[in-house]
Amino acid sequence: MKFNQALERMSTYPFVQLEDAKRKVADRLGGLIDFGVGDPVERTPEFIRRALIESVTERSSYPKAAGLPETREAIAGWCSRRFGVEVDADTEVLPSSGSKEAIFSLAQIAVDRSADKNVVVTTEPGYPIPLRSAELNGCGLLSVPLREGHGFIPDLDSIDDGIWKSIALFWVNYPNNPTGATAPVAFYGELASRAAEHDFLVASDEAYSEIYFGEPPHSALEVTDRSNVVVLNTLSKRSAMTGYRSGSIVADESVMAMLKRYRPLAGTASPEFIQRAAAAAWRDEAHVEEMRSIYGAKRGVIEPFLRRKGLRVAGGDATFYLWVATPQGEPEDAFALRLLQRGVVVAPGTFFGDAGRGYVRMALVPTLEQCRKAVDLLDDII
Ligand SMILES: Cc1ncc(COP(=O)(O)O)c(C=O)c1O
Repeated sequence: MKFNQALERMSTYPFVQLEDAKRKVADRLGGLIDFGVGDPVERTPEFIRRALIESVTERSSYPKAAGLPETREAIAGWCSRRFGVEVDADTEVLPSSGSKEAIFSLAQIAVDRSADKNVVVTTEPGYPIPLRSAELNGCGLLSVPLREGHGFIPDLDSIDDGIWKSIALFWVNYPNNPTGATAPVAFYGELASRAAEHDFLVASDEAYSEIYFGEPPHSALEVTDRSNVVVLNTLSKRSAMTGYRSGSIVADESVMAMLKRYRPLAGTASPEFIQRAAAAAWRDEAHVEEMRSIYGAKRGVIEPFLRRKGLRVAGGDATFYLWVATPQGEPEDAFALRLLQRGVVVAPGTFFGDAGRGYVRMALVPTLEQCRKAVDLLDDII
């Protein structure tokens, strides 16, 4: 049978490759400390779990793609409190079933691949979903490297003048996975003004906006004219709710109109009991502060250790990732393999694209106790 060739050509999702190597070492050592995959293990706050349980009704019908007014208002309220940006809960907000599905499907509404204007820009190293979706949708591809010397921000001037008019969708992700870098509001402003000039959509994936250890990161929502901007956020990281699959989409009415056509077809409406728990989570900041302090404590164990060992934490001070330059230019996969032999898993930077060469990513998702143990395990091999 002939399947989608783009899917058949696609290499194994990098973490699947890591899984094989991990299994072998885990069998030998009887366990691993896994800084590889960014899946938080923190407890979902009790009041959110209670809100979910109390929202489960006797009968359950199809949820509407438009979402519950209560959830949309909770998201709009959060945008106002957090970024000082007023968005219309009725016309500019949608709940998603986690941000991944919304990220994956955006090319379907934003790109007409039969037109000249069909290029999707992604940045690398980066979260792979925007690129994979563009590949599967048969879009034109442009990958822009995030270089340390440029603050891990794409150098917009490096993009050829002739290309701008063929761009349909431009992905950015700050705070950035994997580098931890944040973007100044001036960058969003520059990108949004180019989007207005060349008529493309800026998609800003802000999954880690609440995991920061310096100044609160900005949002692309803060630009003066956000008519070409769509912002995707999620409760997965800030509220330890990965399993709930709950996020937000905020965009101009014209983009929303297309999303409201598309999403009922894809069947991605968020279940209503999830949305009610999500509304409770968006309204509360205390648990988010607590989440930051949990990750801050882990950072406080690992970061000084790496520095003491002469390793350079090259990335920024947000997200729960540390983007670490390998020692003396050691290849990232060799370095990761060396740590794996001690039972400590990190992700080679090239898992996130070629521009990740020379770095590894540590996701601070193991417990504080495990972070301390990892320091002991690695003390004599770094
Ligand atoms: C940069 C980035 N965006 C989006 C997501 C997806 O998050 P979710 O689908 O859980 O909302 C992730 C998950 O790891 C991520 O790293």
